[in-house]
Amino acid sequence: MNRRGYYGEFGGAFIPEILTATFDALEDAFEKARGDASFWEEYSDMMSAYSCRPTPLTFAGNLTRHFKGPRIYVKREDLNHTGAHKINNVMGQGLLVRRMGKSRVVAETGAGQHGVATATMAARFGFGCTIYMGEVDVERQRPNVFWMERLGAEVIPVKDGTRILKDAINQAFRDWAAHMEDTHYVLGTACGPHPFPEMVAYFQSIIGKEARDRMLTLEGKMPSRVYACVGGGSNALGIFSGFLDDPVDLVGVEAAGEGLETGRHAARLASNDGSMGVAQGYKTYFLQDREGQMKETHSVAAGLDYVGVSPILASHRETGRIRFEAVTDSEVLDAMSLTIKKEGLIPALESSHAFAQAFKEAPYLSRDDIILINQSGRGDKDIFTIADAFVDPGWQRFIRKKGCEYGT
Ligand SMILES: Cc1ncc(COP(=O)(O)O)c(C=O)c1O
Repeated sequence: MNRRGYYGEFGGAFIPEILTATFDALEDAFEKARGDASFWEEYSDMMSAYSCRPTPLTFAGNLTRHFKGPRIYVKREDLNHTGAHKINNVMGQGLLVRRMGKSRVVAETGAGQHGVATATMAARFGFGCTIYMGEVDVERQRPNVFWMERLGAEVIPVKDGTRILKDAINQAFRDWAAHMEDTHYVLGTACGPHPFPEMVAYFQSIIGKEARDRMLTLEGKMPSRVYACVGGGSNALGIFSGFLDDPVDLVGVEAAGEGLETGRHAARLASNDGSMGVAQGYKTYFLQDREGQMKETHSVAAGLDYVGVSPILASHRETGRIRFEAVTDSEVLDAMSLTIKKEGLIPALESSHAFAQAFKEAPYLSRDDIILINQSGRGDKDIFTIADAFVDPGWQRFIRKKGCEYGT
């Protein structure tokens, strides 16, 4: 970061004047907490007691043999409470909310993992909670909506625009602007106006710290390559932060959806379709048309179809420190299938993007190499999409039967 909240040319805080005092107070609370060693201690103690941290590195012996190449390790963020890395960020923000003396949180969610994590945090800390979710995502992630509501959150389906994540973000900002006194906006990824990218990356850096330590213990050396999927960029920044100063090839994997050439994708950094712009309060690469209107994005993974991307990642792309690639929906489903069958691991569709790119490259690496894949979340939430993709007749019978029981 150079100028306040800028990473190279990217970042900043393009916010209405009415929000300035709230953002200043948040930045102040965050910087004070970051400067206080006991805060990180409190945070990591809470994460170990509540979310099973440190999460392990699992050696994927069967995949290693299958590809006859590098030793493959998987960082198990799926083992977190609520099933994904999203909890790392929200619990950290929960501690900040308590420090700031606020009593209510709002959040946006795409895949629903961040919404469930936020609702969980709110239940644990005793905060009121409202979650904004695009109507399309409400439909495709119904199990997560169910859990958010059970946890006591109000889930509001957003009917504006393309009815996905970016529209939910706009609504969450509107709510926050109207209730700044008692409400904090728990942004779910390393995007948005400063200090959100910095703050989210800080809480997610627990992934990289643990991964680096464990890698040294297990192998006594650094991996050659680290792979992570990129939605907004929080799990990628989390794991990459442990290896930024090492000679390690860091690979961020975006959604190529139905193929980069079809235009139905969400590759802001790995394709030539992204361009620099300012929207939703910050400057980064967006998928937008010549007039700056946001384009429709597509991915089989609800958590990867955001039109923008972390300004921190955009700046790492500019300097060449992080390489960006994109894999298609069908490559992702194949990689997920292989991982399930060979290792008994069930990665989320989002995480399966990282596996798919690693599998493309593994055959070209040697047995002396080590690769590390961040399994950002578990795949249970994706059962509907996956069952559709694999046309599972047993599952379809079950759904029909359930539908009949509900009288539809
Ligand atoms: C399991 C999982 N992985 C990855 C992502 C993408 O987000 P990010 O790029 O911020 O890690 C999501 C978003 O919902 C997710 O649920």
